[in-house]
This record gives sequence, C-alpha cells and structure tokens, in this order.
Amino acid sequence: MKSLTLTLLMLTTCILTVSKCETGNAEIIRELQSTVAALGRQLIMQQLFVEERIRSEGSSGLKQIRLQTGGSRPYHSTTFVGNSLANIHDHINYDRTLGMGETIAVLNGVEFRTRHNDYKLKMPCRRKQTLHCTEDIPFPKVPRKVISKESVSDQIAEMKEYFRAWKEQDSSIRRYSNFFKPVLCYLEGAWMKSSASLQESFASDRHFLDATSWFDLHQKARFSAASGRKDNLENFAYLPVTIAHLTGINGTIPEFAQWNYRILCHPLSQDVPFNRFRTVDDLHSRMAFKAGIDQQTLSRRARFQLNPEDSDHWGEGRFYDYGFLDSLMEQIPGKDNYRANLTDDLFGDVALRYEDDEDGSPRVLNAGFYHRWFKVTQKGADGRKLMHRGYSDQNVFMAMTSQPDVVGLNITNCARRGRDCVTVQQKWTYAIPLEIVYMTPLSRWNPYDLTFKGLAYTDEGMSVKEGNRNGQKTVDKAFNGTNNALYYQTPVEMFARKQRGDTADTGRYGVGVLDKNGVVRTVDASGFRVKLNIADVGEIRQRWPIMPASVEGSTIMKEIDALKDMVMDQQRYINMYRESPLALATGTTMAPVTADQTLETSLSTSAVISQHSHTLVLDADSIQRMKDGAKIAVRTSTDNGHFHELKVFYNSSIGRFQMFKCDLQNHCWDGHDSHLWPSDG
Ligand SMILES: *[C@@H]1O[C@H](CO)[C@@H](O)[C@H](O)[C@H]1NC(C)=O
Ligand SMILES: *[C@@H]1O[C@H](CO)[C@@H](O)[C@H](O)[C@H]1NC(C)=O
Ligand SMILES: *[C@@H]1O[C@H](CO)[C@@H](O)[C@H](O)[C@H]1NC(C)=O
Ligand SMILES: *[C@@H]1O[C@H](CO)[C@@H](O)[C@H](O)[C@H]1NC(C)=O
Ligand SMILES: *[C@@H]1O[C@H](CO)[C@@H](O)[C@H](O)[C@H]1NC(C)=O
Repeated sequence: MKSLTLTLLMLTTCILTVSKCETGNAEIIRELQSTVAALGRQLIMQQLFVEERIRSEGSSGLKQIRLQTGGSRPYHSTTFVGNSLANIHDHINYDRTLGMGETIAVLNGVEFRTRHNDYKLKMPCRRKQTLHCTEDIPFPKVPRKVISKESVSDQIAEMKEYFRAWKEQDSSIRRYSNFFKPVLCYLEGAWMKSSASLQESFASDRHFLDATSWFDLHQKARFSAASGRKDNLENFAYLPVTIAHLTGINGTIPEFAQWNYRILCHPLSQDVPFNRFRTVDDLHSRMAFKAGIDQQTLSRRARFQLNPEDSDHWGEGRFYDYGFLDSLMEQIPGKDNYRANLTDDLFGDVALRYEDDEDGSPRVLNAGFYHRWFKVTQKGADGRKLMHRGYSDQNVFMAMTSQPDVVGLNITNCARRGRDCVTVQQKWTYAIPLEIVYMTPLSRWNPYDLTFKGLAYTDEGMSVKEGNRNGQKTVDKAFNGTNNALYYQTPVEMFARKQRGDTADTGRYGVGVLDKNGVVRTVDASGFRVKLNIADVGEIRQRWPIMPASVEGSTIMKEIDALKDMVMDQQRYINMYRESPLALATGTTMAPVTADQTLETSLSTSAVISQHSHTLVLDADSIQRMKDGAKIAVRTSTDNGHFHELKVFYNSSIGRFQMFKCDLQNHCWDGHDSHLWPSDG
C-alpha cells in the first residue's frame, strides 16, 4: 500500500511539474489514483465489517486467556478463567502492583491481545490534561488509634481490630471506612494516530512491550501466532491497525490508526460494601474444578457482579438500566483526564445526563467521563429520549476526548438537501470495568519505621540489597531498608499462618530488614493480594473482579444463562418447565460430587529465590487411584516464574499426600520439603 502510494506520489509530481508528460501516462495515473482510493476505502470498510461482526456477536468484555491446561472435557481447558480469572495473581513485594497476565479482550468491536499486564495503582492526572499523564493513587492513612500505641505489639492488636471491623463490615467495632478505600480499575482502549514510535501507555514494574516500533510489534505478534512460540516474558501484544482516513488528492494517501489500551484505576468517592457483590456462576470453571459456588467465591477464579442498585437489597428484573456501576464509572475521565469538560452536542442535540437535576430539569452530560446511558431532547419536541452508546453492546462505556493524538471521525449533516451543511468531528475512547480493589492501611503502616528508599532501580533503591543482602534474618544479610519492589514493612504477626502440625514454624516466615538502628526486623510484604489472611481475623478478599465477559453479549450465552438459572434454581423457576423434572417426580436423592483437592507445598528454603510455595490440584479420580496405591505425576502452579513436576503418593500411615520426586530429583532445587498440605484456595 505504502509503496504504491509512493509511486503514485512520484507520478503525481511528474504531472504537476513536467507538463510534457504524455497524455497516455496521465490517464494511467488517474486510473491508478482512483483504484488506490477505491482500495483504501474498501480496506476501511473491511475493518468496519469485522468490527460490526464482533459487535453483534458479543459485547465488550474479556474473551480469553492463554491456554494453561488440557483436560478430558472441553470446559477443562482455559476460557477467560483458568487457574484464576483473567490470570490475576499476587506480586506482594511491590508497593502498588496488581498482578494480571495476558488476556484477549473486546472493546467496542475491537478485539486485541494484551501483554502481561501487571498494572500499577495509578490514576489519570488530576490537574494536567497532558495525554497519558498519570499519578500515583494516594494510599489511605493509618488510623491514629493504631499509630498512637507505643509498642508494636499493641499497634498490631489495634490494627487487627480495624481489619476485623472491615471484614465484618461493622463500624461499631472500629470506624473503618476512611482507611479501607475502594478503587475501580478499568481497561481503556482507543484508536491513536499511528506515530513512528511505539508508545507504552501504562506503566508496569515488571513488563513492557518488547518491540522497537509498532511494525516490529505487529511482526512479533504475527510470528508468535504462526509459530506457536510465545515471548517467555509475555511482552508481545496484538494491537490492530487500521486506515483511519484517506487524504491527499482524491483520497489516495492513507492515514493509519493504531489501537492501544491501558489499565488505570480511579479512587472511588464512596465506600462499596462487600454485599454489593455477588458471584457470577461461571459454571464451566466450577465444573472444571468441581467447585461449589462458595468454594468458587473464595478462589481466584471468582468473578463478581455489582448490585445494579447501591443498596442492601438485590433486585432482579429487566427494569435496571442506569445503575450503581454507571454511577461509579462516570467518575472516571477519558483521555482528557479529570479536567475533561466536553459536551456532545451533535447537530445541536445536546446529550443529557441520565439522571435529572433534583428539581427535574435536565443536566448537560459531561461527555469527557465514561458513561453508556444518556438522554437527548429533540429540537421542537418536549419529550426526551433514552439512548445507549452501544447498539447491542450493553457493557461498553464511552468518553469523549479532545486529545490531538486520538483519531476522530467526521460527520456532515445538511439541513436541506446538499445545503447548509455542517461538519462535526468527535473523538471517543472506550472502557470496561475490571475490578474493585480495596486499599488498606497496610500500604502505609510502618511500625518499625523502616527507611523507604524509593524506586528499586535508583541508586538509593539499589542500596537495599547492597553487599549481597537477600532478606535473611541476620545483620549482614537483612535488607537495608525497603524500596518499591522490596516493600516489606508489615510485622509478620499480622498475617495468619497455616497450622501445619510438626512443621509449623513462624520463624521461617517473613524477611529480615534492618531498621534505622541496624536492628533486624522480621516483616512481611505489604503489597496487594487477591486475598488477605489476617491473623485472628481470617480471610478477606482485597481484589473483586467485576469484568464482563464478551460472550455474555451473544444470544447463545443469554440462552445458556437462562437455562442455567432454570436448572440451578429449579424451585424458583419450576413453573417455567414444560414437564415436571424427574428428580422431583421420583424424589431421587443426589449423589455427592467429590471435589478436586488443592494441595500446597511447603515454603521454599533456598536463599537464591524469594520465599514462595506452589499449589497443585488433584482430581477425584487421581485421589482415589493414589489411595489405592498409585503414584501420580502432577505439575504445580507457576509461582516466582517456575513450576515443579512432582511425583505424588498417598502416605496412608499419616493420612496425607507426599511427593517423592521433584523435577526428577529427590528434593526440589529450591528447598520445598516432601510434605503437601491441604490448601484453602
Ligand atoms: C479527482 O477525481 C476527479 C473525478 O474522478 C477527477 O476529475 C479529477 O481530475 C481528480 N483530481 C486529480 C488531481 O487527479
Ligand atoms: C465546562 O465548560 C463550560 C463552557 O464550555 C463552562 O460553562 C462550565 O463551567 C465548565 N465546567 C466546568 C466544571 O469547568
Ligand atoms: C474533519 O473535520 C475537521 C474540522 O472539523 C478537519 O480539520 C479535518 O481535516 C477533517 N478530517 C477529515 C478526515 O475529513
Ligand atoms: C544502610 O543504608 C544507609 C543509607 O541508606 C547507610 O547509611 C547505612 O550505613 C547502611 N547500613 C548498613 C549496615 O550497611
Ligand atoms: C510416611 O510418613 C511417615 C511419617 O512421616 C514416614 O516415616 C514414612 O517414611 C512415610 N512413608 C513413605 C513411603 O515415605
């Protein structure tokens, strides 16, 4: 395309400068020009065709993650859920990193594949309108009642009470809501003007687009799709390109648009009580893990729906349109950042907010913030019309922008046939919610007053590890202070340890960090976790994924969901059945399903890698076979960048599973012992 355009340009120059160009040539050139223009238009239409097709087959949302397992049934393999939803995981040693792997997502008909995301808790700039300007979301304060305690153990006890209040959602225990603050993280996509240089539109401590230019990235995405190899660091993304416009003489010069996405978060202006969430029954994932709904809710595979009303009551029905989620998303600006102030007044029809003013008068919609429902008043008519930004896509949120680097589209409207024409340009970006993450006082609480030395790659940050310090609990091996990638400042006593019979040994947990007086303090990582496990309080979910699934927008999935509700809530929907279900007719009792069992290895003891454990899942079939004496090969989860291949047997004299081979060796290279313990998730 480009070289054709170039030739054409040269030929055009020939026409303009050398009047002696033969008339024959000029004719060929004109023909070529109109062919190029036609081909360009056709390419634009082709992209539109693909987008329209995707738009009508599903909605905006998550589609797929990288395959992790096979299995004997189709639903055993990976969808948008595998071992965890959207590949979410922990990177607790970072101050503000939220682990999330590669995903395929759809935003307003554009399907794309992300890199390994591992995004940071950042928000758009509050004051500047600069493109992609972001700032750290401030962590909540530590309660005065905690800091004012003199001894660290009293602080810990007091802090636990705040966590108890939060877990129980009971402000009579402690007034917790100022210290546990929800942020809404979202996925945003836009067609950007294709500049020569590749732009990273959001930060990660661990990942980046591994390519020198957009073209290089496209080539790498093509190569990995064609060869089935992936970048070991998962730093390739597939981001589509399209022709945005045709400019130049008779539309022969294409202007390209590059799709790009980012993940940012927004600190919500209100609390979101835990009872606003309910688990989405992703039945295929439950079947794959034979998990009851409660077990699924506790696992990393859980996906949640937000109550359509901000209320303790859960309504069910068709009359919900603008709801709680809309009121949260509309706090989030598009690419104009928080200063956005844009009106969508296409041809004088001003878009109005869904909710009128208190006195019933309409309010103009600030289209620079994410919304999907809006109203318009038609000129000369009193009535208002309710509209949704998506044709069939109920999940897409849109925001207008004035950023010069975002590709816009023009529309021309003529009041009378061919006369009094007005051309308007608008630019839009698209978003879906990903998850609600609660910030806790742990992010700031530093009872041992350890020195925070900033970013890990700065000279000061690196001094934490100076002299081969690795966090062991001795004066010469303990970290000297903390940095954003070695963010260890929470006393180990804060977190619950599983009681593991003879091997329970709290001394093995945590890392050593030198305080300002050179004393070794035993502390744990203070970063974000999917689930916190606070000693004497229990488990509390910190990350609540609420991302929609793209397939939910398809008629097939709607039909399946209807069927699921009828089958799973038989009593409620019994009148919908055409015939009385067999089980009811005969009073058959249900056979119990044997759930998969998740086991966990002991913690690693090697000093060359930071402390971790792995989980492994045994299905009912393997459990039975092992209890009958079989030895079975099992692969563990990937943690700290590796997994182990274990040979597992059932030791009947202690009634537990044990490993006898680890990666073909008698002992794991990183020091997990042979015990395998029941895991709680
Ligand atoms: C553009 O196209 C029109 C109609 O096809 C033609 O008459 C005109 O000469 C073209 N202009 C140039 C500069 O080629
Ligand atoms: C937005 O801009 C309009 C003028 O275009 C102005 O009247 C209004 O006060 C602005 N709103 C804010 C919040 O700045
Ligand atoms: C769209 O309209 C704007 C003015 O509103 C103009 O500057 C721009 O060139 C137009 N773009 C195209 C592709 O027609
Ligand atoms: C720890 O780092 C500080 C500077 O950040 C330095 O003054 C001190 O000597 C270091 N302590 C040790 C034991 O190396
Ligand atoms: C089973 O566990 C017991 C107690 O830990 C141990 O003595 C025995 O060697 C184990 N059996 C096998 C086959 O490893």
